[in-house]
Amino acid sequence: MRAAVLGTGSCLPEKVLTNTDLEKLVETSDEWITTRTGIRTRRIAGPGEENYKLASTAARRALEMAKVTPEELDLVVVATLTPHMMMPSSACFVQAEIGAVNAFAYDLNAACSGFLYGLDLVDSYIARRPDMKILLIGSETLSARVNWEDRNTCILFGDGAGACVITGREQGGVVASRLLSDGRLWKLLYMDSPESRNSAIRQPDRKGCYIQMSGRDVFKYAVRAMEDAVTGLLLETGTSIDQVDLMIPHQANIRILGKLMERLGVPDEKLYINVDKYGNTSAASIPIALDEANRQGILSRGQRILLCSFGGGFTWGALLMDW
Ligand SMILES: CC(C)(COP(=O)(O)OP(=O)(O)OC[C@H]1O[C@@H](n2cnc3c(N)ncnc32)[C@H](O)[C@@H]1OP(=O)(O)O)[C@@H](O)C(=O)NCCC(=O)NCCS
Repeated sequence: MRAAVLGTGSCLPEKVLTNTDLEKLVETSDEWITTRTGIRTRRIAGPGEENYKLASTAARRALEMAKVTPEELDLVVVATLTPHMMMPSSACFVQAEIGAVNAFAYDLNAACSGFLYGLDLVDSYIARRPDMKILLIGSETLSARVNWEDRNTCILFGDGAGACVITGREQGGVVASRLLSDGRLWKLLYMDSPESRNSAIRQPDRKGCYIQMSGRDVFKYAVRAMEDAVTGLLLETGTSIDQVDLMIPHQANIRILGKLMERLGVPDEKLYINVDKYGNTSAASIPIALDEANRQGILSRGQRILLCSFGGGFTWGALLMDW
């Protein structure tokens, strides 16, 4: 038995921040942002749209589609790098908010790869207990951790949440995954916490607590790493890229995706993209895209989908799944 998706849901904050809005904050232009990143708008969480609230709304929508009640859930996992609090976990807040009284709950942090790592984890639980009903969520409020004076980063990120209700299925579900990380490269993309004692990056103005990034290096590694993960996974499973019906990568940057698709030989029509609307929502990007593709009828039972991601750590990976 492998982990299969019963229902999907997502939740995006109301406020839309356009590239033109950003022109008023930093020295940039709609044209620069669009050509370098493909991003046109992103959503920004306001009052009442805390990480766990976005996550809970996405969860309720996924539960409704799956026809599963909160009481039936055995486990709630939230992949996030912007939790509501350090303790308790956002997953515990979600549990309380939706009434998943019979579940255990915890957070997972693998930066932008969090949802992919989560799917792999959930698949292991299902191997042991196929009847488990698991709620896996990716939820982020990155806007609180963006330096709105830094044009290198503030144009890229957005807030949102996506959720999947998962259980065991005899046929279909997760086929195989390939996860990797390299902690030696952490300084190329990081976000310190206010209570850190890390004197190497600690700054009196707490700037280290905002997202810090070496954009060009991240770009280079991201393309190469995701290509390696996907190629390795396809080889390992004896799958040709032509057998993949839809590719849903982490939505970071249109140029990263363009280069990746070119190297892998994936045609445009097999690629799902929504980075133009939401920017990079880190761990939430893949489940938001899954939910959109699902509700638009792009996904159908039996299709082979390929997910891949890259994020801080560095963490990266690829996962094959039969919908
Ligand atoms: C961030 C990114 C868009 C920058 O694009 P780039 O083509 O690499 O641009 P560079 O960093 O080389 O900067 C080129 C110039 O544009 C400027 N620039 C940077 N941000 C700008 C902005 N928002 N508007 C206008 N100019 C900007 C730089 O200051 C630099 O100017 P200089 O040459 O006078 O120093 C790109 O590197 C990228 O997408 N990296 C990956 C980021 C990512 O996806 N991170 C998350 C991974 S999960």
